[in-house]
Amino acid sequence: MTNIAAVSSSRPVALITGASAGIGFAFAQALAERGYDLIVTARRRERLEELAAGLRAKHAGIRVEIIVADLAGAAAPEQIAAEIARLGMDVELLVNNAGFGTHGRFESIAPAREQEEIALNVAALVALTHAFLPAMLERGHGGVINIASTAAFQPVPWMSVYGASKAFVRSFSEALHEEVHARGVRVLALCPGPTATEFFDTAVAPPRGPIRTVRDVVATGLRAYEKGAPVAIDGPSNQIMIRLASLMPRRWTTKIAGRIMHP
Ligand SMILES: NC(=O)c1ccc[n+]([C@@H]2O[C@H](COP(=O)([O-])OP(=O)(O)OC[C@H]3O[C@@H](n4cnc5c(N)ncnc54)[C@H](OP(=O)(O)O)[C@@H]3O)[C@@H](O)[C@H]2O)c1
Repeated sequence: MTNIAAVSSSRPVALITGASAGIGFAFAQALAERGYDLIVTARRRERLEELAAGLRAKHAGIRVEIIVADLAGAAAPEQIAAEIARLGMDVELLVNNAGFGTHGRFESIAPAREQEEIALNVAALVALTHAFLPAMLERGHGGVINIASTAAFQPVPWMSVYGASKAFVRSFSEALHEEVHARGVRVLALCPGPTATEFFDTAVAPPRGPIRTVRDVVATGLRAYEKGAPVAIDGPSNQIMIRLASLMPRRWTTKIAGRIMHP
């Protein structure tokens, strides 16, 4: 355990959920590069330890704390906040990244799995925002990056709960951005399209078309965050697709999404 008294740092602190893999792992690397101390959380302790060891070896003086938690559990966000208070760290940037997607015929997906998806993708994200945003507002700086998806822009048949969860994240983030940006706090909905990660091990095979890297996604996110944008769609082809879709009737875009995602 870190000796709290010995670690008095003026570096900003980022809390990243789902940092054991994929986009969250890449956020940890990029934010360490930018001079942040980190709190990384996920369920797989070994992965987090590997990440932390790599970052400590590469960035002299960095503080990296690990919190192992299952964020689908209702008590987890509060427990994470309590642990961070105990560590004496003020979160300057919250990256709500942990998430997964169920795929298939609605009636064939286990109800408990979809409850877990809503708990993780939606409830934990709101709870963590509640836990850390008030202090950011008091300080007059800081922010939240919520990982939504291009799935947030139209209903997604065969991934109906996932699409709805990401539409929630996008709408919630845009609304909150409007509430807080004049008080110095940023909220961004980062919307990746298909990205090479372990996501497709649990969800579905990636749709045909360009696949982005996690580094691309994180670079897009941090650029938009630094500009104070409310929404960022990663990658030109995803941006064009969303723009075209916005010109079509919603029934058409739902049908097209259904064709693409059909199991
Ligand atoms: N990849 C894509 O194409 C894509 C596109 C659009 C949006 N996204 C979004 O991007 C975010 C990151 O996904 P990714 O592609 O990087 O997926 P990934 O490689 O599967 O990583 C998911 C991360 O979430 C964590 N996680 C999963 N369930 C958890 C739980 N119950 N409690 C705590 N942590 C949990 C995992 O860690 P543990 O397993 O160690 O807990 C892992 O670190 C998600 O919100 C996803 O919806 C991904």
